[in-house]
Amino acid sequence: MTPDFEHEQDVAIAAARRAGGTLRTYLERGVEAHTKNTSIDLVTEADKASEALIVASLAQAFPHHHVMSEEGGGNHAQSEWVWIVDPLDGTTNFAHGYLHFAVSIALRRAGVTVVGVVYDVMRDEMFTARQGAGARRNAQPIRVSSTPRLERSLLTSGFPYDRQANPHNNLDHFADLLMCTHSVLHSGSAALDLAAVACGRLDGYWEYGLSAWDFAAGSLLVTEAGGRMTDPDGAEVDMQRGDIVATNGHIHAELLARLQLTK
Ligand code: IPD
Ligand code: CA
Ligand code: CA
Repeated sequence: MTPDFEHEQDVAIAAARRAGGTLRTYLERGVEAHTKNTSIDLVTEADKASEALIVASLAQAFPHHHVMSEEGGGNHAQSEWVWIVDPLDGTTNFAHGYLHFAVSIALRRAGVTVVGVVYDVMRDEMFTARQGAGARRNAQPIRVSSTPRLERSLLTSGFPYDRQANPHNNLDHFADLLMCTHSVLHSGSAALDLAAVACGRLDGYWEYGLSAWDFAAGSLLVTEAGGRMTDPDGAEVDMQRGDIVATNGHIHAELLARLQLTK
């Protein structure tokens, strides 16, 4: 263990890069998608291959750390060190050949996220953050945007996989925000949405019911880049609940108020 988590971050970066290479290979070869919990929640062989590679890299470097990964792989030993892995964030995009997806790896120590790595595979952009050391894109420091008002903002959001049955499916909020901003995107990768807020390409992002692996790494990117992360009530994000609002800070109160309006 290094006190500034540099070694841990280096291991995560190397694993994310290798996993990205594997995802590119699968993409070229063509992948078959299967459904998971709902008819629109997809998983591919590539998700599993990427996961196996990341889990093996982490196990080799940190055999006693707990590793929690979306497709179920990892070391579930008790430890204050917990890696949270999304081996392919943006599986729907990937399965359709839409080139917007990422690998996301976070390290939490005693419940605090200390390392975050999000790799935009097709743009070859490595987003990294360490607690207290700022956020970077390809090793260059990044900052959130300076957009001062919601009406001048470009936002992004997403929808739960159970949206056909779940009345709390975010469509009302999406429609409302679309009318009072420059626009609202739906990119299909929560990790890349957070990276985009962190580097100032987007001004804000919200989503309900995410899993920890979708946002653990990206959240640290946003806060280390000078942005703000809360739940929709303005409280600390609950990792289990996964309702998140991430912004450049300037538009945070306005976005929270708007989300309350259409509750
Ligand atoms: C999904 C993506 C998407 C978000 C979903 C996530 P996956 O992750 O991050 O943007 O809207 O809620 O589940 O399934 O592609 O790893
Ligand atoms: Ca995900
Ligand atoms: Ca995933």
